[in-house]
Amino acid sequence: MSKRMWYDSFIRSIIKFIGNFAEGAEISTSRYREYMENTEKNILLAESDIQEKVKELGKRISKDYEGRELLVVGILKGALIFMADLVRNISLPLTLDFMAVSSYGASTTSSGVVRILRDLEQDIYGKDVLIVEDIIDTGLTLNYLLANLKSRQPRTLKICSLLDKPTKRVVEVSPDYLGFEIPDLFVIGYGLDYAEQYRQLPYIAVLEE
Ligand code: IMP
Repeated sequence: MSKRMWYDSFIRSIIKFIGNFAEGAEISTSRYREYMENTEKNILLAESDIQEKVKELGKRISKDYEGRELLVVGILKGALIFMADLVRNISLPLTLDFMAVSSYGASTTSSGVVRILRDLEQDIYGKDVLIVEDIIDTGLTLNYLLANLKSRQPRTLKICSLLDKPTKRVVEVSPDYLGFEIPDLFVIGYGLDYAEQYRQLPYIAVLEE
């Protein structure tokens, strides 16, 4: 191969490579658009409604705990986004910690089995602890967490949940602070997932099955 031919083939390979890359980006952008459009059809709670409620909850919590210091415990992964917005609306000194518990996996019904996947880093003895949850459904997860955390003797232990689906409750448990009560629908977005997808939606939508 002459020097010139080698040079032409080299340039063609580069153009082909850039072309493939651009095509890939186009595909992923259109897939994302389709993904968002499908969920936008089923919006249950708009971003503005959620943000307004989060502000209101932050104000109430700041007032109720005035003069105290809070330890906010987020239940991963569902509460992550709600918690991030909530704490930015709480005007108190506070620290954060996280627990991860097993969820439904790729199913939309509760297995009733609760397993701690990640425990707290901090000792909660004598502290004002606020658990932040995404949603209470059967109540099994929270019931287990409450019993577990109470045994560590915090000064106070309260629950703040963004959503509540009271119709499917199996055990008696209710949040001290609640965003919205919703009907028995499987919802996604604002931290809530289906098979680990949709957590980044800024609104809450009903999953189409
Ligand atoms: P519970 O133990 O039945 O109260 O379920 C609590 C957990 O189940 C929540 O923290 C969620 O992770 C998950 N979950 C329950 N309902 C939904 C839903 O509608 N969408 C997404 N996750 C849900």
